[in-house]
Amino acid sequence: MIADRKADRYTRSVSEDRGATVAVASFEERIATRQARVGIVGLGYAGLPLAMAFAEAGFPVTGIDLNAERVQAVNDSRSYLVDVPEERYAAAEGRLSATCDYAAVGELDALTICVPTPLSKTRSPDVKYVVAAAESISEHLSSGQLVMLQSTTYPGTTEELVLDILQRGGRQVGRDFFLGYAPERVDPGNRVYDVHNTPKLVAGVTDECLARVRAVYETIVDDVVAVRRPMVAEMAKLHENTFRAVNIALANELALICDRLGISAWEVIDAAATKPFAFMPHHPGPGLGGDCIPVVPHFISWRMREYGYSARMIDTAHEINAQMPVHVVHRVADALNSVGRAINRARILVLGMAYKPDVHDTRESPSLIITQDLLARGADIRYCDPWVPTVGLGQGTVLENVGWTEEEVREADCVVMLTPHRAFLDQPHWRHARLIVDTRNVIPVGDHVWSI
Ligand SMILES: NC(=O)c1ccc[n+]([C@@H]2O[C@H](COP(=O)([O-])OP(=O)(O)OC[C@H]3O[C@@H](n4cnc5c(N)ncnc54)[C@H](O)[C@@H]3O)[C@@H](O)[C@H]2O)c1
Repeated sequence: MIADRKADRYTRSVSEDRGATVAVASFEERIATRQARVGIVGLGYAGLPLAMAFAEAGFPVTGIDLNAERVQAVNDSRSYLVDVPEERYAAAEGRLSATCDYAAVGELDALTICVPTPLSKTRSPDVKYVVAAAESISEHLSSGQLVMLQSTTYPGTTEELVLDILQRGGRQVGRDFFLGYAPERVDPGNRVYDVHNTPKLVAGVTDECLARVRAVYETIVDDVVAVRRPMVAEMAKLHENTFRAVNIALANELALICDRLGISAWEVIDAAATKPFAFMPHHPGPGLGGDCIPVVPHFISWRMREYGYSARMIDTAHEINAQMPVHVVHRVADALNSVGRAINRARILVLGMAYKPDVHDTRESPSLIITQDLLARGADIRYCDPWVPTVGLGQGTVLENVGWTEEEVREADCVVMLTPHRAFLDQPHWRHARLIVDTRNVIPVGDHVWSI
């Protein structure tokens, strides 16, 4: 059974400037009265909105990040992420500050780690940022502090890796410090679901740890859902993203099948979606992007190798999804071929470098792979993305965003729709295109429009 919240026994002393030592209130009381100092380690897409949510809720919040530019931006109340516009700094009334110095940890009651967890080239989890953050925290950890991991990671990270680092020097979890896991579920750019109304999974290494994690998140999230162990929460987060990856792979495979049958996969999906139960529509596209869905399922595959189990569904989904950028390039070749042209020397206008609409994020974006491939085949590439001013494509190639204009569209031999930003949909200049490859089913069908 998940523990009921226990009566809190947390007391610690702080030395004030004047040298007096004062007893401080219980942990929960400090949370309830917003006296507790909250820290967020890693001020990126996941960490900054969380830091802002705590600051808006009335807590003094310290962000810790090694990136001095981000730290400066926070201290100057400058926005660098779509989900944290400048006006939110005003709402936080100066309660959010940032530093590169881990010494700040010593002053905190509760801190959350939101550092990156990428994959290595061989698709094994690269946890060096989590290890570095945990080690830096460990150096400054003081009695009674709560540490929460929020980064998406392989099952076992909290209870094996992070716990091990924080227990160095004889510290004991549940007595000297508290540790939990609360996975990040943020969907950058989502206008409906944010930190407050996305239910939060929480778990603790001990019952006392869980009670504290829950108390912290209940101040900013409407629905906090406790699970029995950190590994359950870690795995639930991975399963959510794997569910998406596998279902998108199914939709992508449907597109490849329908292409051979000469019918529209989107029409098939719309028809299937009229069933009011037991079907959830997913759609084909140019490939997976972002730092979650293409990455996260591999954490499971990697961990399972240790158990001699091959996660076949995940591996198959990966193969299908990874094929989509190549399929798009072949589609462009087919489209150009139909008008007696080759990719070589064709002027191609790529629409969208971000991996999804109305965000800046180009991490793992299939647009990068498709553009690199088209360049390698000799295309004269121009791209338009109002959210991405420049893009590096390796080997010193950097392209600049061109304006979204009728002229650019008219001049292109082929327009390739990859990311349907609102700016494109609001001004449908593609009316003037000679040839279009539409990977998102947003352009009205016509003889010159090729679907994937
Ligand atoms: N971006 C998303 O939409 C999203 C969604 C769900 C989960 N997540 C997960 O959240 C975690 C963070 O992702 P993100 O998108 O916010 O990453 P990010 O790259 O946007 O930000 C991470 C920040 O951590 C900082 N950092 C790195 N090492 C550090 C260290 N040792 N100490 C202090 N700061 C350090 C970096 O400078 C950077 O500012 C990842 O595990 C990711 O998988 C992200």
